[in-house]
Amino acid sequence: MSPSRPTLREILAKSTQFLTTKQVDSPRLSAELVTAHALGLNRLDLFLDLDKPLSEPELARIRPLLARRGTGEPMAYILGRREFYGLDFHVSPEVLIPRPDTELGVELALKLFDREQSFCFVDVGTGSGALCVTLLKLFPQARAVATDISSGALNVATGNLRRHGVDHRCLRIRGDLLRHVKGRSLDLIVANLPYIGEKEAKSLSREVVAFEPSLALFGGLEGDELFPPLLRDAQEVLVNGGVVLLEVGTGQAPGLCERIRDMSPRWADIAIHNDLAGHERYVQARLRW
Ligand SMILES: C[S@@+](CC[C@H](N)C(=O)[O-])C[C@H]1O[C@@H](n2cnc3c(N)ncnc32)[C@H](O)[C@@H]1O
Repeated sequence: MSPSRPTLREILAKSTQFLTTKQVDSPRLSAELVTAHALGLNRLDLFLDLDKPLSEPELARIRPLLARRGTGEPMAYILGRREFYGLDFHVSPEVLIPRPDTELGVELALKLFDREQSFCFVDVGTGSGALCVTLLKLFPQARAVATDISSGALNVATGNLRRHGVDHRCLRIRGDLLRHVKGRSLDLIVANLPYIGEKEAKSLSREVVAFEPSLALFGGLEGDELFPPLLRDAQEVLVNGGVVLLEVGTGQAPGLCERIRDMSPRWADIAIHNDLAGHERYVQARLRW
């Protein structure tokens, strides 16, 4: 006689227990997401069928994904996707998993331009293309340049630009900051560049340090090394009245504002914006000729 097959409820309980012993974040939620993904269901469907016995082929689909999660691999890489500003993005270990904090950059751009306005912007360090794609979707007359130093990241961004049908309005450039963008007339620069200090690496979660690309996380010893060269280049590519929106790490905003003021009297309207958690997350400045 064949042994009785485990039910979905039992598998979820066992998987949660396994992930708990592995000390991964949110073990129950992870077990549900992994199981739903392996079975081709959405998470809600799982709860409608908790007493369903699972077949061996179904268990065989769950096991390797669960093992990956057990190593601490982030759910977004296992699922291959992450939502940003209500849009679905493909993500791979070549790119940072887009964070909700970065949605503030989108909100700030919405305050700067009318929805039907025609303007040009650059997304520096585009990663998955989350900011670039979202802005192109929200501003149908806008055109963009997306840069990244990583060719793997640019490939992911290109895929997302195509998925969302906005690739024809975006030029992709691989390179350091704005090096290959000089001479253009840009109305806006958005940048969520790496801003974590290398000396902070030890305090980061294992799921971040071991799996997300270092190139996307660390901005030198203190974390703020990329801002000065970016701002110098920005002065060469922005139109009169053009704006920079820079995402920054904890505690970096006041110092960066000071640096911008010291850099040139042409920078005006320098401001700090807080994210939903109340952290100083974006620095904004306008260039006047
Ligand atoms: C923090 S991630 C942000 C990705 C994406 N903008 C987002 O918000 O999800 C930073 C990105 O900047 C890229 N990057 C790092 N150094 C760079 C440089 N010097 N020039 C251009 N891109 C850089 C990394 O490859 C990475 O994709």
